[in-house]
Amino acid sequence: MAEDLCFITKDTLIIKAPKKSPLLLRMLLLAFAMVCGVYMCTICLKQTTSGHQTKNKFQNIELIDESQRCDLSGIDQSEIHYLHFPNPKTFSREECSCNPVRYFAILSMQRSGSGWFETLLNSHINVSSNGEIFSVRERRINASAVVKTMDKIYNLDWFTSASKNECSAAVGFKWMLNQGLIENQKVVVDYFNKKGVSTIFLFRRNQLRRMISARILAKYKPKIDTSGLIRELQKLEETIRKTLDYFKSTRHIVLYYEDVVKNRTKLADVQDFLWLPRRDLHSRQVKIHRGHLSDHVENWKDIEQTLKGTSFESFIGADYRK
Ligand SMILES: *[C@@H]1O[C@H](CO)[C@@H](O)[C@H](O)[C@H]1NC(C)=O
Ligand SMILES: *[C@@H]1O[C@H](CO)[C@@H](O)[C@H](O)[C@H]1NC(C)=O
Ligand SMILES: *[C@@H]1O[C@H](CO)[C@@H](O)[C@H](O)[C@H]1NC(C)=O
Repeated sequence: MAEDLCFITKDTLIIKAPKKSPLLLRMLLLAFAMVCGVYMCTICLKQTTSGHQTKNKFQNIELIDESQRCDLSGIDQSEIHYLHFPNPKTFSREECSCNPVRYFAILSMQRSGSGWFETLLNSHINVSSNGEIFSVRERRINASAVVKTMDKIYNLDWFTSASKNECSAAVGFKWMLNQGLIENQKVVVDYFNKKGVSTIFLFRRNQLRRMISARILAKYKPKIDTSGLIRELQKLEETIRKTLDYFKSTRHIVLYYEDVVKNRTKLADVQDFLWLPRRDLHSRQVKIHRGHLSDHVENWKDIEQTLKGTSFESFIGADYRK
């Protein structure tokens, strides 16, 4: 902290000092700068020669310095907590070291279009979304493994095909609810709030479609067990409702796959949400599957019969067409 003070005072003094200031004033200024310098040196020496604990602290101070060195005027106060100046261990951000980076996470479920959505985001020159990081079990084996993994991603030290360069302005990954997210949600919500991570929820409105889409992966024209269907749909909606509720204290946006497919303005909303310059996003990946659901399952009549008159009736008819 003392260091920062020195920096600020030094800068402002130099800027404010009039060109023709009397010699005495200049001498005073010089002496002050020297005292500051010596003081900083002693702090540096103390920090580097002492143990591991203080070394960590020192790194933090460096991080703070990084952002104070950068011009934050013009940035809205409400955004400051969500803008970061990571200092990667593996490379230098060089000319972009003062470009702020936003942290995000896409929370979703399998067969909800998150793969397609992520390729759209990654088509933005300044976005790195690193895929399903937590599909690997060791990374979510316990809370500290989860935190360590996120630290590495957000410090830009995680390398995937999606990692961009020193000019990334938003970095994140996608996280399926069943990949250790629910088990670790307290730690994750705390982390998101403390570190200023923005949450992008991506769900599917039609959970029946999602369910059938998952079954089709295993079998062509599957037969859906209708006896447990309503309970299963209820459970899915409950999981989504609980997750939304649990993460409501984080800065978030809720998107539905069907809306993004139909309405490209949603992609502009996402870019605005992350304070990114708006770009046209594109993906060559095909959307999940087309056509009416009845073409994809063996026992459509049973399903219709089961859902008629329930709160899930809309899943039978409502369909986006492309
Ligand atoms: C978490 O898991 C790692 C790897 O298995 C282990 O080394 C570490 O001790 C565990 N931490 C806690 C707090 O359980
Ligand atoms: C986006 O990336 C380009 C090219 O790497 C860079 O010039 C630009 O400053 C970046 N924009 C932001 C907002 O970081
Ligand atoms: C598309 O999305 C935008 C922003 O989310 C919304 O304002 C607009 O009404 C939507 N348009 C249609 C046709 O639904």
